[in-house]
Amino acid sequence: MRLKDKVAIITGAGRGIGRGIALRFAREGCNIIVADLNFRNAFNVAKEVKASGREALAIKVNVAVAAQVKKVVDKTIEKFHRIDILVNNAGITIPAPIEKLSEEIWDRTIDINLKGTYLCSREVAKYMIKKKSGKIINLSSKSGKVGGLWLSAYCASKFGVIGFTQSLALDLASYKINVNAVCPGIIFTPQWEKLDLAYAKKLKIPAGRVRDYYVKKIPLGREATVEDVANIVLFLASKESDYMTGQAINVTGGQEMR
Ligand SMILES: NC(=O)c1ccc[n+]([C@@H]2O[C@H](COP(=O)([O-])OP(=O)(O)OC[C@H]3O[C@@H](n4cnc5c(N)ncnc54)[C@H](O)[C@@H]3O)[C@@H](O)[C@H]2O)c1
Repeated sequence: MRLKDKVAIITGAGRGIGRGIALRFAREGCNIIVADLNFRNAFNVAKEVKASGREALAIKVNVAVAAQVKKVVDKTIEKFHRIDILVNNAGITIPAPIEKLSEEIWDRTIDINLKGTYLCSREVAKYMIKKKSGKIINLSSKSGKVGGLWLSAYCASKFGVIGFTQSLALDLASYKINVNAVCPGIIFTPQWEKLDLAYAKKLKIPAGRVRDYYVKKIPLGREATVEDVANIVLFLASKESDYMTGQAINVTGGQEMR
């Protein structure tokens, strides 16, 4: 029970890594706000959290819209009277070579992955500053440390998340609020159903072979699981990481070491 009676807002928790973090936190005694663009998924994850004996609230939100983000924070305070942890997990990946990278793809990627992280952090920080405590954890990526083919918008957003994390850590250090980032390698979450074809095209390999192609590059010899990432996010949300701030932790099976 490393998060007993704490309250966490987790964005994009309707599926994939965010859902994994929500269920892991719930097992540690945490109450969860499942905030996602897809309300049906958010609702189902909130049901799973409740089935494990914790409180949960599903809220539909677009993290790129300030007014909607404020509503999430207001509803959280109304129901739970506290916010201890924010996990900025909502994110999208739309691979495209530069000549086909439309302004629409660029803007959407930066809006959700980077501006969304800023908007949620700003709104929650207002509350955490008053309480002089809190944990903010941002999902960056291996693509926040090194560039990737057809990933210029995504990498720009995830490098940005690390710069934002370091700066926010300094802004909030005197209030005893820890701000850190996690940089996963590849995890075949539901978003990969759509990505597989685009990656096969960019790598010039047959569809369905992308997974093998990437796994061969991982020193520890396997892809990451949602639990691998959730374990590190849990550590960063717990007291055990009280002396860490401004860090960007790789969870890549040894693929990225900087
Ligand atoms: N899967 C990977 O290989 C991988 C690797 C490194 C980093 N990441 C990062 O981890 C995070 C989660 O990735 P995932 O693989 O679980 O993705 P996913 O697509 O499976 O889940 C993302 C969730 O975010 C929600 N979402 C999307 N746009 C939103 C918005 N504007 N507002 C609120 N919610 C929104 C979606 O509805 C979805 O439930 C992302 O930030 C991603 O960039 C993933």
